[in-house]
Amino acid sequence: MAVDYTIRDGVAVVTLDNPPVNSLGFETRRGLADALDQATRDAAVVAIVLTGAGGLFSGGADITEFGTREAMREPTLWSLIDLLERSAKPVVVALDGLTMGGGLELSLGAHYRVASRGTRVGLPEVKLGLLPGAGGTQRLPRAAGLETALNMIVTGATMTAGELAESGLFARVVDADPLTAAIAFAREAAERGASQGQSHPLVRDRPIEHDNAAGFLQFARNQVAATAKHLPAPGKCIDAIEYGVLHGVDAGLAHEREGFFALMQTPESGALRHAFFAERAANKIADVPPETPVREIRRVAVIGAGTMGGGIAMSFVNAGLPVTLVETSGEALERGLATIARNYDASVKKGKLTEAARDQRMALIAPTLTYDAIAEADLVIEAVFEELGVKEQVFSRIDAIAKPGAILASNTSTLDLNRIAAFTSRPADVVGLHFFSPANVMKLLEVVRGEKTAKDVLATVMRMARKIGKTAVVSGVCDGFIGNRMIEQYFRQSLFMLEEGALPAQIDRAIERFGFAMGPFRMSDLAGNDISWAIRKRRYSEAPQLHYPRVADRLCEAGRFGQKTGAGWYDYRPGERAALSSPFVEAMIVDYSKSLGSARRAIGDEEIVERLVYALVNEGAKILAEGIAAKASDIDVVYLDGYGFPAWRGGPMYYADTVGLYHVERAIARYAEQVNGDAWEPAPLIAQLARSGARLTG
Ligand code: NAI
Repeated sequence: MAVDYTIRDGVAVVTLDNPPVNSLGFETRRGLADALDQATRDAAVVAIVLTGAGGLFSGGADITEFGTREAMREPTLWSLIDLLERSAKPVVVALDGLTMGGGLELSLGAHYRVASRGTRVGLPEVKLGLLPGAGGTQRLPRAAGLETALNMIVTGATMTAGELAESGLFARVVDADPLTAAIAFAREAAERGASQGQSHPLVRDRPIEHDNAAGFLQFARNQVAATAKHLPAPGKCIDAIEYGVLHGVDAGLAHEREGFFALMQTPESGALRHAFFAERAANKIADVPPETPVREIRRVAVIGAGTMGGGIAMSFVNAGLPVTLVETSGEALERGLATIARNYDASVKKGKLTEAARDQRMALIAPTLTYDAIAEADLVIEAVFEELGVKEQVFSRIDAIAKPGAILASNTSTLDLNRIAAFTSRPADVVGLHFFSPANVMKLLEVVRGEKTAKDVLATVMRMARKIGKTAVVSGVCDGFIGNRMIEQYFRQSLFMLEEGALPAQIDRAIERFGFAMGPFRMSDLAGNDISWAIRKRRYSEAPQLHYPRVADRLCEAGRFGQKTGAGWYDYRPGERAALSSPFVEAMIVDYSKSLGSARRAIGDEEIVERLVYALVNEGAKILAEGIAAKASDIDVVYLDGYGFPAWRGGPMYYADTVGLYHVERAIARYAEQVNGDAWEPAPLIAQLARSGARLTG
């Protein structure tokens, strides 16, 4: 049963019970309508309380129904809200835990809301490229005030009932059990109504009070224009709110509904919804069922306190897990700890962290120079130098000391995990945990599955990833795993285009206009050009036949490693991060083209974007065909969470589907033929799917 009906103290208690988040799919809606009808008919019932099972009211609409006929099947959310508003008996919603989207909109149809102080409420629809379509844009401004409501709707951010206690949204904010309080409140309301002949107030009947609504709305529009220029939804949210301000609640509701259906059809919303599902799907591994037992992780050891080790340690202590941090020298350990402390101090300065919380986190780190301390750890993560010989030494030591059943992980970004696993006597316990830099900030975690990695090890690290706030994607073993293997082809194309006629700023600008957070040259300057140089040198010796653009080597030979040396593809003023076009680099590029004997040509932005993005798509299709990624949506998650691919384009694979694989295949063939053939080995999977009219992302 999705909805439970009981009577307590003459009050009908209607409980949404649809785990995990009491979403409002068709069955739940029908159950709710039936329960409301029953409460209306039942003469012994004087008032109605709505509540949710499992410690929360409702996470909102069932988004798997979006775009299907189920979503529109009566009773719809609109009809349910109408039922609530027409109820002659007072309706009180008891809010606890979490109340999001359609759940909050439903509650706004009731006469009263009683919430526990910590309840988080929000209208996150904008994050899916939508607006709250069940009255949120009309009722929330009337309940919580124009400014608070608009901010919540346009950002999709959640707030606690405690923060909103004075806003008018709640009849009561309580520290005790909200259901008990709501039942008592409902009885009082019923008695008041009966004795004083009072009708019960509706949110829709409240005015929107603001002394300069027009000015505020204009201010909000300016903000949105500056911060969300690619996204139609935030502006449409403001339109709907403004319409209600100017023309009243009924006209506003009609306008909101139209806006909702219009946004549902936008490519941006389609992409954002894909991204949402892709992230949830990434956590599921086909041959590792959800009931797979997991190992308990109470203590973590991190080997190496360098750039990555420090950030990894922070990720765990931020989630309250104690970390043993192992280094080889006191000096390296001090340096690592100082960097961590500096990071936390910066958060304290920005007001994001209290001093007490910083001290608590620092206290969770146990620094040590001896490996013995890792005997206690349930998970050991190695983040030492990227050399197989060093990894061998480290893993044999870990193997000798770690307790049986401990998970042994490597943060290697390029080495063969199967070889690393073979350095131990327990390869089934070995897994790759490829964090991204800075590890305490970046959401993405590539979980590298070795040939022998045990299923319960995978299940454990996937769950652990969620606990420390990371999105984990499983990758098979190959050079660069999913993300870096693809980005290499993208960088290669960007370098070819330099040789052919483009300049760094033009390429960066074109791909940033497409929506990438940062173009390839600004990104390289940030990461350090010496890192890709080292990889290229390896490529030259491994595959001398491979045509690799050498222009970047010239840059490195000139010592221009990027921001850290004050000069890279761009010039940098001391202490500043702004990338300034460099006449030296531009002359070097033109000179290099000359040395190749090729005439430079003008390259348009469209070609730049196609060659960069299709380089990702082409390699991604190979990764998929080889089974390195289990599904195309996993590749999208890697790019959305780790590489700054614009969320509103859904990731490279989804984007290729929206362009149409037929067109993608032809464009790749055209570039292979006309421009730089040996840089493109078209992925057979694209041709195959294009021919059968199928999609990469299904
Ligand atoms: P790093 O050079 O900043 O840090 C390595 C640390 O390991 C040094 O502090 C060193 O003293 C310590 N170390 C070396 N041998 C040790 C041993 N036997 N026992 C204990 N500590 C030892 O290097 P970084 O950048 O942190 O890289 C570490 C690993 O993470 C490498 O495998 C790298 O490929 C990988 N990685 C690096 C990324 C990056 O952006 N820097 C991104 C993802 C992975």
